[in-house]
Amino acid sequence: MTMDRKEILHWLRCDDPKELEQLWRLADRARQQHVGEAVHLRGLVEISNYCARSCHYCGLRAPNRQVSRYRLSAEEILDCADQAVRLGYGTLVLQSGEDDRIEAEWLASLLRHIKATTPLALTLSLGERSEDDLRIWREAGADRYLLRFETSDRALYRAIHPDRGARVSDRLALLRQLKSLGYETGSGVMVGIPGQSYAILADDILLFRELDLDMIGIGPFIAHPDTPLGQAASPLPGETQVPPSIGMTCKAVALARILRPDANIPATTAVAVMDAWQGRELALRCGANVIMPNLTPARFREHYTIYPGKADRIEAAEQSDQQIRSQIKAMGRGIGSGQGGRKSGTQTE
Ligand code: 5AD
Repeated sequence: MTMDRKEILHWLRCDDPKELEQLWRLADRARQQHVGEAVHLRGLVEISNYCARSCHYCGLRAPNRQVSRYRLSAEEILDCADQAVRLGYGTLVLQSGEDDRIEAEWLASLLRHIKATTPLALTLSLGERSEDDLRIWREAGADRYLLRFETSDRALYRAIHPDRGARVSDRLALLRQLKSLGYETGSGVMVGIPGQSYAILADDILLFRELDLDMIGIGPFIAHPDTPLGQAASPLPGETQVPPSIGMTCKAVALARILRPDANIPATTAVAVMDAWQGRELALRCGANVIMPNLTPARFREHYTIYPGKADRIEAAEQSDQQIRSQIKAMGRGIGSGQGGRKSGTQTE
């Protein structure tokens, strides 16, 4: 099904619950037809909160002295991989700030070990790294890479992503590189960043289709008080600025599903943080088909403060796993088995 920019804008601006039912139905049907009833679980491990960047929205930005920084050891990461296998997850996601001390060869040998000893698919989400690093990790067995472009608007992108010295930040170029290296490639945006207009969000969604993304992550912007955007008022007038709400995030998820029907789309952590009771379920009803339970050991997790509220409900992995499974079953959906990649297809347990 196609949808043009005008229709996308219409849905983003629509606030009639009756009419919106139609959008949720279209997205849910596209999800059903293209990726089925399976909800895939990916174990998320936050391997380092060191970051060399100064992105204006993120609590892990280098200048934030309030963060106590950590980096997991190889053994700690392997324990998380074992946990993912024990819980029956098909994918392990390794995420971090942009941390050059995560050395390419060190990580490559860890990836080789995990691939040789487990059936896990491996997803990396380590920020903007050199093409050499990305190639080494791909050759070591990494299957997928996540790198959100955050916004399609060049001026807004530049305003909130200071370059790192002489290195110019060009995530669209990196996404193309990732594709040509053979990674399944994921990207996405935040909904409601100060300065994001409806027109910009519509273009973000059109870019998902143009980039032919395998995975699309969309979450609401959550203001972090220790960042420049945590305090700034929006530069846009009220009727132009996209609000950082669950409802608006669900619209973006639904439109992403309609435009990229066979992509893997998570109900993101930010959605669950903004609405602990219903967030994930709402996203799963309007196009999402993936959940990423957090496997980071609790003593580190409290320091991975991209935005506030993330550390409020830290539970043992087994406990949140049980809750997530029963929530999915109560919705009449199945738990995915196998790796659940875009290319490897989907099955249900
Ligand atoms: N609110 C919501 N999401 C955020 N991210 C970073 N900071 C925030 C915030 N304050 C998202 C970005 C990044 C991902 C890892 O987390 O989209 O790509």
